[in-house]
Amino acid sequence: MPNSDSLSSNEIIAASAGHPGSVGVFDSGYGGLTVLRSLQQALPEADFIYLGDNARAPYGNRSFDLIYHFTRQATEYLFSRGCQLVILACNTASAKALRTIQQNDLPRWDPARRVLGVIRPTVEAVGNITRTGAVGLVGTPGTVASQSYDLELAKLHPGIRFYSHACPMWVPLVENLESNGPGADYFVKRDIEELLKKAPDIDTLILGCTHYPLLIDKIRQFAPSNLQIVLQGEIVANSLLDYLQRHPDMDARITRNGTTEYITTEEADKFSNLAAVFMGKPVKAHRENL
Ligand code: DGL
Repeated sequence: MPNSDSLSSNEIIAASAGHPGSVGVFDSGYGGLTVLRSLQQALPEADFIYLGDNARAPYGNRSFDLIYHFTRQATEYLFSRGCQLVILACNTASAKALRTIQQNDLPRWDPARRVLGVIRPTVEAVGNITRTGAVGLVGTPGTVASQSYDLELAKLHPGIRFYSHACPMWVPLVENLESNGPGADYFVKRDIEELLKKAPDIDTLILGCTHYPLLIDKIRQFAPSNLQIVLQGEIVANSLLDYLQRHPDMDARITRNGTTEYITTEEADKFSNLAAVFMGKPVKAHRENL
């Protein structure tokens, strides 16, 4: 066995080409845990590696180049750990980095692996949810500015009227454990009111950031009771099941021992304690530098 310290990451990725591995799940921080939870329920026997780049979160206010650079590093790391399939459980990374990684990086690393995002499955699902044909989205400034949802919706459901609103404070509230505090009341109320001012006719609201389910109590408190709130976890999990059914070659390349490895780029104990709250079970994370 060659010493992995002396190999480039391309050589390490090449060494695991075609071998079964875990499903990689990536987010800038804790938010992707809301997707991981649904993935574990949908595929209880699969192995997962969760990577949260907490040291550099939040991504939402950062430039395109930096989000691409960070997401590329994270994906490369997960591939070097043997993952054959990586889910970007982060709207900001899906909006800003997914396409470039799929088109430029994946063919060089290993064209047989896959990187999937969360925006396309969400947009596919939303067409069956709205009754009035008017849909709102709350997301990070990066996701909203990218217009990824606007473009996908126009392609898949051209009749839908779409309104988006950036909420720059929501991810920092979650990452700083303030989801239940008075700051969350203030910002969630303000941002929902601002969206509804622009879009009084929406009947569906996409939570276009995987951190936002952690603010769901506040969102329900300040949103009109008839507004349908779209959470991404279950949608992404169902879409993955469908994908694996259509791609049995990839399905066969997922190991199935029912394990999840949790990795953070920040302090491991802090991540473990908070992740345990999100996951509803004990979590033991370790730290890696990307
Ligand atoms: N969970 C990420 C998303 O879905 C949050 C991005 C951030 O770090 O700002 O967009």
